[in-house]
Amino acid sequence: MKKIIALLLVATGTAAFAHSGVKDPDVMNRMMGMSELAKQMKVIGSMHMGQEAFDAEAVNAALASIAEEASYIPSLFEVEALDPKSEALPSIWEDFEGFTAKANTLRETASSLAGTVANADDLRPIMHQIGQACSACHADYRAE
Ligand code: HEC
Repeated sequence: MKKIIALLLVATGTAAFAHSGVKDPDVMNRMMGMSELAKQMKVIGSMHMGQEAFDAEAVNAALASIAEEASYIPSLFEVEALDPKSEALPSIWEDFEGFTAKANTLRETASSLAGTVANADDLRPIMHQIGQACSACHADYRAE
């Protein structure tokens, strides 16, 4: 399963080499999963900032991708893998249930918003809600 996800991420053009120096494959896979989330956020964010023309279909698709990627987070972090470049905190494995709950919040938020986007005014609350779901987990489980 993890291998398939990693291959998909490479196939979709996520910069696999942005994390050069990371040797642990589990750490690499979860970093690529996070990069994929960031990529989808950028799709929405660049429209929000007016850098790209508003495209409801693209926003709905990005939200669906975020929901799907969020559903992989627990399995990507299942192994307590460490790497000097990793920002993952030990609290993830001390409280895997709490960590999984944060991933579920992101998945549920993104999937409930996917398909609802109709105009550019929808972008601000979306950025806010999704951004909050990302940082709620980062605050507790990622060293920043
Ligand atoms: C359930 C917890 C959780 C959620 C939800 C979450 N993240 Fe993360 N994220 C992490 C952890 C833990 C790391 C550190 C991983 C590591 O360095 O091993 C991380 C790392 C990252 C990184 C750095 C990856 C790298 O290359 O080192 C980015 C970018 C990122 N997250 C973006 C996002 C975005 C955007 C969202 C929301 C759409 C999000 N994350 C939601 C837990 C989460």
